Amino acid sequence: MRIAVVGTGYVGLVAGTCFADVGNDVICVDNDVNKIEMLNNGKIPIYEPGLEEMVKRNVTQERLVFTTDIKSAVEKSQIIFIAVGTPPKEDGSADLQHVLAVAREIGKHMNGPKIIVNKSTVPVGTADKVRDEVKKHTHYDFSVVSNPEFLKEGAAIDDFLKPDRVVVGTDNEETAETMRNLYAPFVRTGKPILIMDVRSAELTKYAANAMLATKISFINEIANLCEKVGADVEMVRKGIGTDRRIGPYFIFPGTGYGGSCFPKDVKAIIRTAREYGMELKILEAVESVNNRQKTILLDKIKNYFNNDLKGKVLAVWGLSFKPNTDDMREAPAISLIRALVKEGAKIRAHDPEALKEAEWRFEDLVKTKDVFLIKKRYEALEGADGLIIMTEWNEFREPDFYLIKEMLKRSVIFDGRNLYDPKRMAKISIDYFPIGRPSSLEYKK
Ligand code: UDX
Repeated sequence: MRIAVVGTGYVGLVAGTCFADVGNDVICVDNDVNKIEMLNNGKIPIYEPGLEEMVKRNVTQERLVFTTDIKSAVEKSQIIFIAVGTPPKEDGSADLQHVLAVAREIGKHMNGPKIIVNKSTVPVGTADKVRDEVKKHTHYDFSVVSNPEFLKEGAAIDDFLKPDRVVVGTDNEETAETMRNLYAPFVRTGKPILIMDVRSAELTKYAANAMLATKISFINEIANLCEKVGADVEMVRKGIGTDRRIGPYFIFPGTGYGGSCFPKDVKAIIRTAREYGMELKILEAVESVNNRQKTILLDKIKNYFNNDLKGKVLAVWGLSFKPNTDDMREAPAISLIRALVKEGAKIRAHDPEALKEAEWRFEDLVKTKDVFLIKKRYEALEGADGLIIMTEWNEFREPDFYLIKEMLKRSVIFDGRNLYDPKRMAKISIDYFPIGRPSSLEYKK
């Protein structure tokens, strides 16, 4: 099939490349000239395992091209995906200006019947708005499909090639057939392509992310309760996760969820409900629990240092909102580091991939020498009073604990991701403070 994908952000780039990889001819469009030039040279602007090789392979085979020319992309394609950003507005609602601008361009350049697919995460009712906008500019037949994307950063290719399900919202049987054919190569393992009405498809994306965010805030609250009552959340997590109705996934406690989806989508679904006169009480709580969780380590750190962080130097391992990505959007590390600096601490932060993004996110604090960004993990420990872990990168899972002890002024680790066993830490005399579990001090007694 001949496909155009407008928007070469995360979703657009992964979708376009994966469609090309199974043999389709794909034109990816973006209005950022530098980005397009970079992509045509086989370089990708984001860090995503496996993506660069896949882009290169398909560009070389001429199945995948990148252009700024939306007109020719629309003219040459049967199916056009809209995959541009929908950033949250001040009030939490999704900003649709980019989506509607693309709809306008598509309408203007239509030269025959086409299928227009919304891949951006958009509120219920957007397909209608897209349809109205396109219609203003063309007399050709077209249908608008809602086809939300469920990929996770860091595992995006695998998620796209082997999805748990494909959701397609359309009321047109012929369009449904084309979409089934398009996705057939990706569901050979028998996973379903769920054809439904457009509004249900649009809401599915928000409901899925809101449910997952709820699981995380839920387990985080249970973790905080575990600490109060002297239980171990790692045991409780396993204890509940073996119940098939609950399941073992997405119940890992930590320092709160971040990223480009959960925070934005939870806000947006709350906002949509309000527009319809409804209050989503559970999700409002999910959001406030998450905001609190992002700085949950602060109290533990302050407590340990007798409420005086002035002049203390703290090493931080992990800045991205999760491992295998350089993305720091809504990362808990941002809130925590800013809070620590406010208390007078100096930060030596290391991340395997996110330092570039950290440079501009912490530009002010780097300038005032409150934050130092360090390329090597152990160098971050030089002169530090303690270590904080904010992202569960693999390379932090089994470090040289004796070297850590030797380098730190105080042998203390505050772990926002529960990477280590408190008993083991007690044995090697590291003061260890995880989330929702007894600290190593409990085992020394
Ligand atoms: C998410 C959804 O998983 C994906 O389906 C959707 O399309 C986009 O949003 P992503 O934001 O890439 O994907 O990351 P994900 O792996 O889901 O993690 C989100 C956040 O939740 C991270 O900050 C992670 O650390 C946190 N998390 C996840 C937990 O704290 N505990 C868990 O058990 C799982």
